[in-house]
Amino acid sequence: MLRTGLEAREALAIRVQRRDPDARWTEEAFRHLVQRKLSAPQLPAIAQLAADMSIFAPRRLHNAYAEWKGGSLMRRPGEIAVSSTYGEILYSLVADLRPALAFEAGAGFGISGSYIAAALQNQRNGQLVSFEIGEYWDVAQRNIAAISPRARVINDAFENFSAHVRSSAPVDFAFIDAIHDPEVIERQVRQLHGFTSPGAVVVVDDVFQAGVPNRSVATLAEERWVSFAAFLGTRQLVLVMR
Ligand SMILES: C[S@@+](CC[C@H](N)C(=O)[O-])C[C@H]1O[C@@H](n2cnc3c(N)ncnc32)[C@H](O)[C@@H]1O
Repeated sequence: MLRTGLEAREALAIRVQRRDPDARWTEEAFRHLVQRKLSAPQLPAIAQLAADMSIFAPRRLHNAYAEWKGGSLMRRPGEIAVSSTYGEILYSLVADLRPALAFEAGAGFGISGSYIAAALQNQRNGQLVSFEIGEYWDVAQRNIAAISPRARVINDAFENFSAHVRSSAPVDFAFIDAIHDPEVIERQVRQLHGFTSPGAVVVVDDVFQAGVPNRSVATLAEERWVSFAAFLGTRQLVLVMR
């Protein structure tokens, strides 16, 4: 049975891994954000954009993927984009948090960035800076710009973020969705943590392998700079930073 956006979000398993006594977030508050009804006018347009993109010819991934996995480097846009279920959750989290500065590692073709930028647009505040090493970064820029002008896609590795933003501007929200190598994911989150504001939310994609969270990525939840951590479905780890 095909579930609608809300039904699919309601069906996702939520497993709180850590909640410090002083954490602002509770399991109930998190569950509410994952499962609440959303009425943003852009959401159907973004789902349609993702569907439209899926008929496009495959594009070549960056050479970094050859070193990591080998095999074919050709991917259709639809194969690498976040689903509408997880995209709506990004929207909901950003709409609640109202970040001034949001980061994304891995713009892809701009689908996840569109969900984030739509929430920034509706709050009339904030900027998304998204990083993409693939040669199709400009497709992401155009797709997100059709939803909101509040985003900039930079054709550079996420790891170089400090060269592109004012060092005094803390990051309030981040979506880590670049290469899904656990070592790289862990390094990117650790690199980010000194640049986040208190209460910043970091959503880390694709942290599960064969249905269980990757062990080294899961250790991020134990860090002293994390106050709340939850696994979402069989994909993501959501961290709230101190
Ligand atoms: C899963 S896709 C991103 C999909 C996109 N977030 C979405 O849901 O629409 C991963 C992307 O990350 C890019 N990437 C990989 N490593 C990167 C890095 N270190 N910095 C920036 N982009 C990177 C890849 O080129 C690829 O396009």
